[in-house]
Amino acid sequence: MKASVIEKINETNQRYLKNLVGKDIPQRLVDQINNMDWSYLNLIGEREQKRGEFAPLGAMELPEIQAKKEEFKAIGLEAIRNCKVGAILLAGGQGTRLGFDKAKGMYNIGVSKDLYIFEQLIRNLQKVTEEAGAFVPLYIMTSDKNDAQTREFFAEHDYFGYNKDFVKFFVQEMVPAVDFDGNVLVEAEDSLAMSPNGNGGWFASLVKAGLGEDMKEKGVEWLNVFAVDNVLQQIADPVFVGATIQSGCVSGAKVVRKCDPYERVGALCLEDGKPSIIEYYELTPEMAEATNEAGSLLYGFGVILNYLFSVEKLFEISKKQMPLHIVEKKVPYMDENGVAIKPETPNAYKFETLILDMIFLMDNCLSFEVDREKEFAPVKNATGVDSVESARELLQKNGIEI
Ligand code: UTP
Repeated sequence: MKASVIEKINETNQRYLKNLVGKDIPQRLVDQINNMDWSYLNLIGEREQKRGEFAPLGAMELPEIQAKKEEFKAIGLEAIRNCKVGAILLAGGQGTRLGFDKAKGMYNIGVSKDLYIFEQLIRNLQKVTEEAGAFVPLYIMTSDKNDAQTREFFAEHDYFGYNKDFVKFFVQEMVPAVDFDGNVLVEAEDSLAMSPNGNGGWFASLVKAGLGEDMKEKGVEWLNVFAVDNVLQQIADPVFVGATIQSGCVSGAKVVRKCDPYERVGALCLEDGKPSIIEYYELTPEMAEATNEAGSLLYGFGVILNYLFSVEKLFEISKKQMPLHIVEKKVPYMDENGVAIKPETPNAYKFETLILDMIFLMDNCLSFEVDREKEFAPVKNATGVDSVESARELLQKNGIEI
């Protein structure tokens, strides 16, 4: 290994590696270091992402959707029957806030019986496939850290009754985390501290895994991308699909009315005239509290990570560079003696691309309101807001036996 490369390694780990001199440095570690894209490090100094001019964006609201429901649904069901709609389950995250060390979808949200998050999501999808009388191809994104356990879990549970020929897994890429001085950390004898590269790389990883061909063969024209952690997630919802197709937009986003101006969700809006998402911490108090004549918040429609994208448009934007976000995280590493350290406070930067930045790359987006009580029960934390407790309550309110 070149000395200049060793210099990029966190100082403690350099000492650890020097202790290994004379012994063989595992090839995996050498490969990871040689394959690392060091240009990431230049971004650390420019942490602020430059944003454009924001303006509010309304939504197709519940009364209008209700009035046209049957029309939209017929269009959506027709597309599903013709296998034009696929679904992407984003399950590569690490779920650090929940503090569950397996894939988040393996979490048992049941009380009096077992009900795994993955299971509940499949139930939600089955409502649609039963009505359509056709299966929706389901592509599940995992990461190196949870791929094997996720595949095994689905196999063990017989895909929760879903047709396994319509389920495909693919693994997202990993990137090294770096300490605050920009040096990579060593996590194990044969590995750098690697973490999943965020949920924005899903399309690139899907194509890299050869699944672009699978979609082509099946004739998939739309992809409904959704997060693993919303147990009320409505997948391949024919009303949403139909409304987006009829609108002529190349993308759609399900949104809920924010429960207060400062709710910690991104709001769908316009940025330099294009659809975009403004994060809650980017809103000034004036923007957060601004209302229209009817008294509704101007930046009041929050995204719930349920998007529909035209596949053709996804291929078109796939060559564009997405912004990289730098997040501070607690990243375990090894000290110079090879002892594993679990930091109590953030010690490293992780690099992520985010799916919400894809919306900006779309020319247009149908903002589609849904009832949060019926479609939004995120499991982010163990207790409190957006937690196991609140999701259980919402499942019960929707008549789901847990
Ligand atoms: P979150 O932003 O909540 O991240 O993911 P997370 O890693 O699951 O949880 P925390 O922040 O560590 O607590 C939103 C969705 O994006 C997926 C997650 O699995 C979830 O469905 N995701 C996130 C990925 O698929 N890959 C990633 O690298 C990050």
